[in-house]
Amino acid sequence: MRVVSGIQPTGNLHLGNYLGAIRQWVAMQDAMQAGDECLFFLADLHALSQPVNPAELAANTVEMAATLLACGIDPARSILFNQARVPGHSELAWILGGTARMGWLGRMTQWKDKAGRQGDSQSTALFTYPVLQAADVMLYRATHVPVGHDQKQHLELARDIAVKFNTDYAVELFPLPEPFISAAAPRIMSLRDGSAKMSKSDASDASRINLTDADDLIVQKLKKAKTDPAPLPDDPAALADRPEATNLVTIYAALAGSSGEAVLAEFAGKGFGAFKPALADLAVSVIGPIRERLAGLLADREAVGAALEQGAERARQLAAPTLLAAQRAVGLQV
Ligand code: TYM
Repeated sequence: MRVVSGIQPTGNLHLGNYLGAIRQWVAMQDAMQAGDECLFFLADLHALSQPVNPAELAANTVEMAATLLACGIDPARSILFNQARVPGHSELAWILGGTARMGWLGRMTQWKDKAGRQGDSQSTALFTYPVLQAADVMLYRATHVPVGHDQKQHLELARDIAVKFNTDYAVELFPLPEPFISAAAPRIMSLRDGSAKMSKSDASDASRINLTDADDLIVQKLKKAKTDPAPLPDDPAALADRPEATNLVTIYAALAGSSGEAVLAEFAGKGFGAFKPALADLAVSVIGPIRERLAGLLADREAVGAALEQGAERARQLAAPTLLAAQRAVGLQV
C-alpha cells in the first residue's frame, strides 16, 4: 500500500479538513504494515494558483506541518514534506500537461466555482492545478489517496491522465490512483450555510471551526451555528431537508466516532438548545488537546522545518525512479 495525500498550506486547518481527511491519514498511518509507505505533504506549489503573500506562505507551511504533527502524523512512520522541496512534482506535472486535455480541465467543478465568470483573469496555475495534483500521486505510484468528497473529481481526472499516458506511450508505468474516501470521512458543511462546504476560503470565520480556535470560541461558534426551530427527529430520513441540522448531527457523530442514527437515538425530541452545548463539549474535548500540542510544536519551528527537510529527502528518493521512467517514456531520457 502506498498512501499519498496533500493539503494546501493556506490559513488554518479546520474541522472539515480534520474529519474529512487528516483523521483518515492518521488511521492509515497507524494501520501500516511492513513494506507500506505513507506520504503526506503540504501542497505549497498548489497555493501559488491564488495570489500569495510570500512570508505568509512560508509561515503557513511550517504551521500547517506542525498542525499535522499535532493531529497525530508521526514523521518516524510517515513521510511528511512540502511539495516544493521535491522538484519531481513540478517536472512530472509538466510532462503530464502534454497528456491532459483542455476539455477535461474545463469541466472541473472547482475551476468552474473559483473562476466563475472571470476565467480570463485567473492564473493558468488555477486551471492546470489538477494536473499537478495528478503528478503528486503518480510520482509515487500511489495506490490509496485518502481525501474528502470534494477532491473525488480531481482524482478521477488523475485516473484519466494515467490511462491516457500509459496508452499513448505504450507503458504500464502508472497504476490508477484510487480516491480513498472512508465511510468515516464525512463532508462537513459551513456553520452558516448547510449547502456550502466548510472552507478556509469562506470570508466568514464563523462558518468554520479552526483547529487553533480557543475553547470559548468553539463554544460560541457552535452556539451561533445556523439551525432551524424543530427538535431533532429519531429517524435520519426526517433530516433530509434540514441541511444545517444534518451537518451538526454529522459533526457530532464524526467527533464521537459513532453514527447519525446513534446520535439521533440519544437526542431525539430535543431541540438545539440542548444539542449544541453537548456538541460544543465534545468538540472542545477533541480539538483542545490538538491545539495544545500545536502550541508546543510551534515553540520550536526549526524542529518542524528539520522534520520537513528529512521527509523531503526520503520523498525525493522514492520519486526518482518514476520520474526517470516517465522521462524515458516520452523521450526526454534514453
Ligand atoms: P484542501 O487543502 O482543500 O483540503 C485538504 C483535505 O481536506 C478535505 N476537506 C474536507 N473534507 C470534508 N469536509 C470539508 N468541508 C472539507 N474541506 C476540505 C479535502 O477533501 C482534502 O482531502 N487539492 C487538494 C490538495 C492536494 C491533494 C493532492 C490531495 C494537492 N495535491 C494530491 C490529494 C492528493 C486541496 O486543495 O485540498
